[in-house]
Amino acid sequence: MFTFSYPVPIISVWILWEWYTFTTTRNKLAEIPTIGPDTFVWSYLSAWRFVFAAKSMIQEGGEKYPNGIFKVYTLEAPSRWLVVVNGEKFTQELTSAKEHHLSKMAALLDLIQAKWTLGKDAHKPAYHIDVIQCYMTRHLTVILTGMADEVHHSIKDTISLSDEWVEYPCMDVISRVICRSINRAFVGLPSCRDKEYLEIQRKFGVTFMASSYSLNLLPKFLKGIVAKMIVPYSKTIQRLDSFCNSLLTQRRQNRKEPGTYCEGGERDLVSGLLDVVPVEDQTAHDLGYRLTIVNFASVHTTSIATSNIILELAARQSYISNLREEVERVIATYGWTKEAMENMVMLESFMMEVSRHFEISAIGIPRQAVKDFTFSNGITIPVGCSVATSTANIHMSSDFYQNPDEFDGYRYLKRKEDGHGHSLKQRMVGLGKNYLFFGSGRHPCPGRVFATIEMKCILAELLLNYDFKLPPDGNPPSGWFGTLRFPKAKSKVLFRKRRSVKG
Ligand code: HEM
Repeated sequence: MFTFSYPVPIISVWILWEWYTFTTTRNKLAEIPTIGPDTFVWSYLSAWRFVFAAKSMIQEGGEKYPNGIFKVYTLEAPSRWLVVVNGEKFTQELTSAKEHHLSKMAALLDLIQAKWTLGKDAHKPAYHIDVIQCYMTRHLTVILTGMADEVHHSIKDTISLSDEWVEYPCMDVISRVICRSINRAFVGLPSCRDKEYLEIQRKFGVTFMASSYSLNLLPKFLKGIVAKMIVPYSKTIQRLDSFCNSLLTQRRQNRKEPGTYCEGGERDLVSGLLDVVPVEDQTAHDLGYRLTIVNFASVHTTSIATSNIILELAARQSYISNLREEVERVIATYGWTKEAMENMVMLESFMMEVSRHFEISAIGIPRQAVKDFTFSNGITIPVGCSVATSTANIHMSSDFYQNPDEFDGYRYLKRKEDGHGHSLKQRMVGLGKNYLFFGSGRHPCPGRVFATIEMKCILAELLLNYDFKLPPDGNPPSGWFGTLRFPKAKSKVLFRKRRSVKG
């Protein structure tokens, strides 16, 4: 006799549900051309192809519809369909759309599967963003001095100043330096040297993203159960409890009276938070949440970007002497100051070119429609659908760049000399329409000034004190996972104490 085993009806219902959502959403997006097949079964295969070949599929969309809009089926988007816009006009419309039409927050919460990964905390007011944008930017000079000092010490403690070449896994070593030095700006001294705290923050990003991605693949009814097993968030907050408690106690003792701080006291994310978070909410849990979210947003992005730059510099030795000369001259004139950072223009050009040529994400400005949104060509993004711009196509567009496929580390310097570059828009932190590394429009990265300064401090320290090169057999090419590119974890770089005489 034929018998059903228990999971069969569940799987059948799930497949039916997936088919229903697939078909209804596809019908709503029927006027938008698809890259890859758009039948139910073949689309699933296409979505798996997107996991490993997102960049080439996005490029294909760019070539076929250079100033148009296309869609791909993907496992990353909640409605599975991701709409991608090409060209300046539609990107401009995307960036200027209001939050109550195309929402950054809804897209972010879905990407990280916040309902299951962060629970109630996902809806806390984002005081940490205000603090980065206002308080930390106001105290940039003091914070920069601390970060530069921490970069100096953490590089010395992490990369040996040996006379012989020593090989290091690039991402690993750089993420240690970055985690410690950016935390000087978040939690100050001596907390930013607490080894356990740093390891928790350094590892959280990877396990958290892996768990969010896995939850994205599951049907809704399984997410809650699986989340309890794989999401590291609650455990992380528990592990940070005593660290955050003692930080709060110590900071409160430093106050003369509530709401004021000792003259010359700490200027970091924590002190800014204590100014704006209502007193009744200033708990170890709240602080743990904010530190974890800000570390999550900053440590891996900055580590990947800096590792890319170091690996490219190690592969292109001909740039090193010019960059060194600039760093030496600028530091001799201005010291480790904001002015010095602004004047490292050749180094900045190299950093921008690496980030343009080897962008860390093939798409940018991800948004989710919370109200039907219609572009000027009449194409409508229905509620619940995800839309983004094709960063990869913009960064490689001949409308914006001469010989875009060519790597030219002086490209942005020449643009400045050509008269393009006196505006802030041609700087790394500027939000020009042809450079989307830190996003654009209404919600760019609030930490971009700190990220740029930190990267410059690290590169300047390395150029001043170390020689570096790739291993003789080179490294595997950088890998893509979905829309994200990162240097292969095994990419190596060799360092030794600088031999050439300082200028
Ligand atoms: C090279 C390093 C970095 C890159 C490439 C980067 C890039 C970005 C991008 C593209 C966004 C999203 C913008 C959008 O939705 O359109 C973003 C958001 C964000 N970034 Fe960064 N970022 C970096 C470093 C940092 C640092 C150092 C901090 C903290 C000091 C930071 C804090 C944040 C936060 C809090 C958000 C969320 C903003 C919001 O929800 O409105 N980032 N970042």
